Amino acid sequence: LLGICFLVLLVSCNPVIKVNGEFSSSPFPRSFLFGTASSSYQYEGAFLTDGKGLNNWDNFTHKPGNIMDGSNGDVAVDHYHRYLQDLDLMDYLGVNSYRFSISWARVLPKGRFGDVNWAGIDHYNKLINALLLKGIQPFVTLTHYDIPQELADRYGPWLSREVQEDFEYYADICFKYFGDRVKYWATFNEPNVVVIRGYQSGIYPPSRCSSLFGNCTNGDSEKEPFIAAHNIILSHAAAVKIYRTKYQKEQEGNIGIVMNTLWLEPMSNSLGDKLAAERAQAFYLNWFLDPIIFGKYPKEMYEILGSSLPSLSKYDLEKLKNGLDFIGINYYSSFYVKDCIFSGSILRTAKRNGVLIGEPTDVDWLFVYPQGMSEIVTYIKERYNNIPMYITENGFGERDNPHTSIEDLLNDTRRVRYMSNHLDSLAIAVRNGADVRGYFAWSLLDNFEWNDGYTIRFGLHHVDYATLKRTKRLSANWYKQYIAKHMAGK
Ligand code: NOJ
Repeated sequence: LLGICFLVLLVSCNPVIKVNGEFSSSPFPRSFLFGTASSSYQYEGAFLTDGKGLNNWDNFTHKPGNIMDGSNGDVAVDHYHRYLQDLDLMDYLGVNSYRFSISWARVLPKGRFGDVNWAGIDHYNKLINALLLKGIQPFVTLTHYDIPQELADRYGPWLSREVQEDFEYYADICFKYFGDRVKYWATFNEPNVVVIRGYQSGIYPPSRCSSLFGNCTNGDSEKEPFIAAHNIILSHAAAVKIYRTKYQKEQEGNIGIVMNTLWLEPMSNSLGDKLAAERAQAFYLNWFLDPIIFGKYPKEMYEILGSSLPSLSKYDLEKLKNGLDFIGINYYSSFYVKDCIFSGSILRTAKRNGVLIGEPTDVDWLFVYPQGMSEIVTYIKERYNNIPMYITENGFGERDNPHTSIEDLLNDTRRVRYMSNHLDSLAIAVRNGADVRGYFAWSLLDNFEWNDGYTIRFGLHHVDYATLKRTKRLSANWYKQYIAKHMAGK
């Protein structure tokens, strides 16, 4: 019943997409944040430097077979040592915010079962101070997929309720040492991806999977994904509670969560397909946001899962009342959804009547469908009463091809077109009243793309992985001009 058939059909096609980078006055408010986004594991490297502990991704990437090119984040783009140089790149772009994540194991190498690593605190203090000196607001994620290995070993790592206390302890330390200067906190990055890939398909650590999702040999419980999600939701609530009670009044910041989003378009106007699309969003996005915002799971989940869905105790509900201040939206791609007749499940596909939903790319999950940006923002606005939103990630990835010349690698016209069209689409939602307060391009630099290692490049700057040299792409200059025009239009 839980099986969600996943089918992506690829054919070549040449859809006409208007390139429209021109605009007279900015559709976005004066205080709008324009930035680039990153994460500690994908950027920092320095994996055992200055007392950092091992985390689940260090452990996972060091096992052969998990990463396409056999690589890992031991060095990544060495942002830990080169952050000042990278800040200069941001300065050139003219961004007013930088989204990055703190490495939990750099601050607490053994979680709450060991000491604080003061060198880690010192590093993030230096980064935050350097950003502020340039007028760039830090937008900080507490965990972007990574968790100290110590906690992964103890709890699996999200399968025990106890992990809430660990996350609360860690969050408290971050608020205490950085919160005087950090005004934007995200508890989790894409917990839906953490759970789906970590406990359903098994392609992310802890490599657990449910037998309904393909060739599964590790993990047998259909309930695990829902238990892991439950503990993440409550960990979010625990961190928000500590922020609200101990810090927020004095520090005057905001706290939210970042979700991966997909615009899921019903395959047809039939009621069945419309309900299937709702069901798909329930099991993807609303799964996390509904409990945090409404104090209950989506009705579709109760209907399909019944008692397999963990129940929210009085105590949990009390914690969840702290909600959130904003929703972070990572949007890249869209799919069609079709009802699978005679089952509760759905078919997710990129094609309708032989025609793709958007322009295909050489990244299998990435279909360029700019309209999906305004669709998903409007959907979230309507469902969650226009809570402030930030586009915490949006970007274009290209597979590395050894035959591509460096000129072609730098002349990234498709990325420019992608960003331009997505910003235009975002502007439509904003003009229609969506309270969107920022946009972060993924990413400042090419970096470690999880299972794909270094084979997919998302950067506004090219990185030569042999020398770690950063080189501006066309998109960097385009984004600089876009931001400058926004500022001038205000
Ligand atoms: C979302 C994730 O947060 C980020 O880590 C990843 O690199 C991008 N998507 C691109 O896949």
